[in-house]
Amino acid sequence: MTDWQSIERWDRAYYLHNVQAQSEYAFCAVERQDGNYLWLADGTRLLDFQSQLISDGLGHRHPGTYAEIRKAMDRYGHVFFGMASEYRARAAKLIIEDVLGAHGWAGRVRVLASGTEAVDSCMTMARLYTGRPVVLTQQHSFHGLTVGATWLRGYRNNLSPPDFAHAIDSPDFPRSGFAAIPPPEHQRYVSAGPLPSIVETEAIIGRIGADKIAAIITEPMLGAAGIPSHPEYLPAIRALCDRHDLLWIDDEVLCGFGRLGEWFGYQVFGDSVPDLVAAGKAVNGCALPAGVVIASKPIAEYFDRARWWSGSTWDGHPLVCASIVGAIESMLATDMLARVRSRGAYLRNRLEALADRHPCVGRTGGWGLFYAVDLVDSNGRPIIPSDRDTDFTGDLAGHPNNIVARECARRGVLLGGFVPNTIKIGPPYTIEESEIDIAMDAFDAALTQVDNVIR
Ligand SMILES: Cc1ncc(COP(=O)(O)O)c(C=O)c1O
Repeated sequence: MTDWQSIERWDRAYYLHNVQAQSEYAFCAVERQDGNYLWLADGTRLLDFQSQLISDGLGHRHPGTYAEIRKAMDRYGHVFFGMASEYRARAAKLIIEDVLGAHGWAGRVRVLASGTEAVDSCMTMARLYTGRPVVLTQQHSFHGLTVGATWLRGYRNNLSPPDFAHAIDSPDFPRSGFAAIPPPEHQRYVSAGPLPSIVETEAIIGRIGADKIAAIITEPMLGAAGIPSHPEYLPAIRALCDRHDLLWIDDEVLCGFGRLGEWFGYQVFGDSVPDLVAAGKAVNGCALPAGVVIASKPIAEYFDRARWWSGSTWDGHPLVCASIVGAIESMLATDMLARVRSRGAYLRNRLEALADRHPCVGRTGGWGLFYAVDLVDSNGRPIIPSDRDTDFTGDLAGHPNNIVARECARRGVLLGGFVPNTIKIGPPYTIEESEIDIAMDAFDAALTQVDNVIR
């Protein structure tokens, strides 16, 4: 039996907690997890309707993924990146051939330990490939939270081609820059003519100079902020990149590997393909820490010609690669994408019915099994005016996302949001229709509470 009193004491005393101040820290211990559920230490069972961080695509402890990890553990511990393992090669083949082969653009993949690292790798590759320092990034986007260990010198992620006398550094190292571009218009935005965000992004490119810009990084649907992109947005970003000879980095850490009902979120928006992809989360359902960077054929061929002084202790870890093999093979064997689409359609219908009945529901949007619901006041404006520009100061208990999270938890459902007025709905792909009903009934009750607040 776990001694939960000691666990709470040690957790409170020694762990460096995320997000909450120590004075408000709420100890909420998970005793175990299985499928779409968590059991808390006090015996409460919660339906995990947000897949933890919209991350655990296959629910908890998926049998296919875990069987492959167990098999790998009988043979492998850690193999460093200078050597190959069966699982590293199989994971790479699955991603490049089986998942992306029909799309024709992807050349090589590297397996890392987090989505953040995958994003960092994309930016370094884009800068080395183009020889330009600046990356354009969307307001309200989220790509990870590291500060840049490469900048501390040592081996510095440079290229040393065998036939060159000098190494090629990332341009403007170590000061390579960023510039903000507008977020995408919402999926439901209606207007004639070009999207204002794209017009403004092109003006920004003009002001900075395309010859200084390596890439534009975007999310298919902004995860942290919960903004589903307008259908014309990503094709327009691709066209903009082509016009100005920039690379398109597609951050699929949250949307990739099935979340939007396709292998990758960009596939929801037509035929445009990216140059670099960062992914993570659902690549192995978070069974182990993982990220992957995927490079287009031309970029992969460019890096083939050099020694790239990059690498982490964890690159291509056999157990992580085994978890990727297990997850992807399970998804292929069970046609998981079709399931995401059909369960997604059911969820969307239930959400639309709620939106019709609750005055606090403003815009809703999303695809597959990822939806964002914006909560508004009686004038249709964000209930907390700072909305996605919030700095999270003051008492957050009355924020609509927290009202919803509390009421849903009281009804046995884990569901909430990050920014104050937006609820993010991202259940595991293994969710059943009956479980969608349970979650939507809890959400219905929570929305009634928000309706009472805005009255
Ligand atoms: C779109 C996006 N990019 C990058 C990251 C960072 O990934 P990780 O937390 O695996 O480092 C996240 C994490 O939520 C994300 O949603």
